Amino acid sequence: MPGFGAFAQVARELRRDVAAARARDPAARGVGQVEILATWPGIHALLAYRVAHALHGGGVRLLPRTISMLTRAVTGIEIHPAARIGEGLFIDHGAGVVIGETADIGDDVTLYQGVTLGGTGFATGKRHPTVQDNVTIGSGAKLLGPITIGHGAKIGANSVVITDVPPNSTVVGNPGHPVRVDGRRPEGPDADWIHLPDPIAEAIQGLASRIGALERTVGELSGEEPDAPVAEVRPLRTVKGPNPAGG
Ligand SMILES: CC(C)(COP(=O)(O)OP(=O)(O)OC[C@H]1O[C@@H](n2cnc3c(N)ncnc32)[C@H](O)[C@@H]1OP(=O)(O)O)[C@@H](O)C(=O)NCCC(=O)NCCS
Repeated sequence: MPGFGAFAQVARELRRDVAAARARDPAARGVGQVEILATWPGIHALLAYRVAHALHGGGVRLLPRTISMLTRAVTGIEIHPAARIGEGLFIDHGAGVVIGETADIGDDVTLYQGVTLGGTGFATGKRHPTVQDNVTIGSGAKLLGPITIGHGAKIGANSVVITDVPPNSTVVGNPGHPVRVDGRRPEGPDADWIHLPDPIAEAIQGLASRIGALERTVGELSGEEPDAPVAEVRPLRTVKGPNPAGG
């Protein structure tokens, strides 16, 4: 059975959870701590989880799962008692949130309704996501498997994420892919096949302009006007007619 220290820690963690709700929920502006404690479903779920987790860590068998089941019935949020959750988690609205047994959540994470931190099948061992500090996960997002969501990442609403997410990135879509990393669009392959550089034409152009300069100098020294225009390189054009390669 967990001792007094474990429950003192639960009280401390809960204070941080309430502070997180006040800081990150626009609807909580000007709302007192007691009102948040009494009426925010995400807070109820976290209170129940933190008690269940302390009991689970203290070797209690049935009670933690019973608390988890009852909390799901009341809040729509299911958190496995063995999941590891840091301080300052904020679950907005709550309904439909699932946090699996081996999920590991860091500090100051925000989850919206309908988020799943789930496994991909019947694998055993570590099979749920690790979510690092300061991550925001949009409503309806599914994060599946033992992947790592890097600190400060944002996961778009309704994304399905099955691979690791780099820190400080924004990931959207199904399958989830980064659309911003450190505030910039990630580099993609250069798809501009029309305007490829032509190094041979550039070299010939350089030689031609050099010849033109020499022709002008010779003309000035000899007192003669160059009768031919200076060398120029014309851009290549598509030649109409049969394909010389025989096609
Ligand atoms: C992902 C999210 C956090 C991105 O916020 P952001 O960092 O400000 O990024 P932007 O809005 O600049 O979007 C970046 C790109 O992703 C796209 N995008 C954003 N969210 C998306 C989503 N959920 N699905 C698909 N594409 C999305 C944008 O259109 C933009 O595309 P572009 O690169 O072609 O311009 C935000 O869009 C989101 O989904 N938040 C969840 C909010 C939520 O669940 N609220 C519920 C309240 S009840």
